[in-house]
Amino acid sequence: MTETALLENLRLNPFVLAPMAGITDRPFRTFMREMGCGIVVSELVSSTGLKYSSEKTRKLMEFDKTQHPVGIQLFGENLEHLTFAAQEVEQMGADFVDLNFGCPVPKVVNKGAGSACLKDLSKLRDTVRAAKSKIQIPLTIKVRTGWDANTRNTHEVAQIAFDEGVTWVAIHGRTRAAAYTGLADWDYITEVKAKSKVPIIGNGDIHTAEGALRRLNETGCDGVMIGRGCLKNPRIFAEARGRLEERTFGRILDRLHVHLSGFYDERLTLIQMRKFAAWYSAGYAGAAGFRKDLFQLQKRDEVLGRIHEFFNVANDQADTSHEPFLMGGHG
Ligand SMILES: Cc1cc2nc3c(=O)[nH]c(=O)nc-3n(C[C@H](O)[C@H](O)[C@H](O)COP(=O)(O)O)c2cc1C
Repeated sequence: MTETALLENLRLNPFVLAPMAGITDRPFRTFMREMGCGIVVSELVSSTGLKYSSEKTRKLMEFDKTQHPVGIQLFGENLEHLTFAAQEVEQMGADFVDLNFGCPVPKVVNKGAGSACLKDLSKLRDTVRAAKSKIQIPLTIKVRTGWDANTRNTHEVAQIAFDEGVTWVAIHGRTRAAAYTGLADWDYITEVKAKSKVPIIGNGDIHTAEGALRRLNETGCDGVMIGRGCLKNPRIFAEARGRLEERTFGRILDRLHVHLSGFYDERLTLIQMRKFAAWYSAGYAGAAGFRKDLFQLQKRDEVLGRIHEFFNVANDQADTSHEPFLMGGHG
């Protein structure tokens, strides 16, 4: 896909699924596209893993044709491996390559990848330039606001991105030091957007469709990225676009089951179904008992039956956004 076409997609539907390791696999990306999300991105994929052709790594990158536009997110400190991986992504038919400069996890940072590049912008520039030089499809990047509160540098990153022909910069509004504590700094994202010559996608702590629209309008961002918010409400993208999702919750989760079982064996499908159903039950009456049941039931029909039973009567989801939820991740 050309840069113009990708940006047109973003203009038409500015609600982007955030990459999440262990979550945004092929079935979940398909599910979220079906539920109204505009653009999807894989979880971070190791360029070195790909270079050595690990089957597990390749599975993370799989997508199906209903997902376009779909990006594959890469990380890695070895530029030879990274450029190899970027070319592989292009050959697979993905629409864009996304580079991860936000991962705070020590295993990644200690090697000089992920958010470590925010401490060394010349390295970030070299990495972007190397990847960009080998591919025709668009290159995007995802960053945090800086290494720590004293060294926030997204203005500089946006300038580098512009100079190097990057298509957009997605900003998770926290520093690496903040990990997942506190709140994403949307004032800073707004400031960066106001000065940036490259499109900006804002990200962090969007829990509702109203919140997504508010952030989009208030910041002037070109798009907003939603991660954990869609793990509590699978309708969040459809609602943000003003589309009424008429299927019942049970029917929605049936779709998720179809996608999971087309990708995983029965055991893994059930593990994933339990996980998503447990997250989606947040804030509904009886959620604690439901979760306990889910993890005790073993047979597929029992698990699916209990999910239907619970969600058929689930209404009035309480706001649980103040409760800690998935306070760790790769970006
Ligand atoms: C479980 C989990 C895994 C994540 N994995 C990735 C990843 O692979 N790549 C990435 O760039 N960000 C990753 N992130 C960060 C999210 O993309 C996003 O920036 C962050 O969760 C803030 O957005 P949210 O409040 O909408 O969730 C992950 C976050 C979580 C919670």
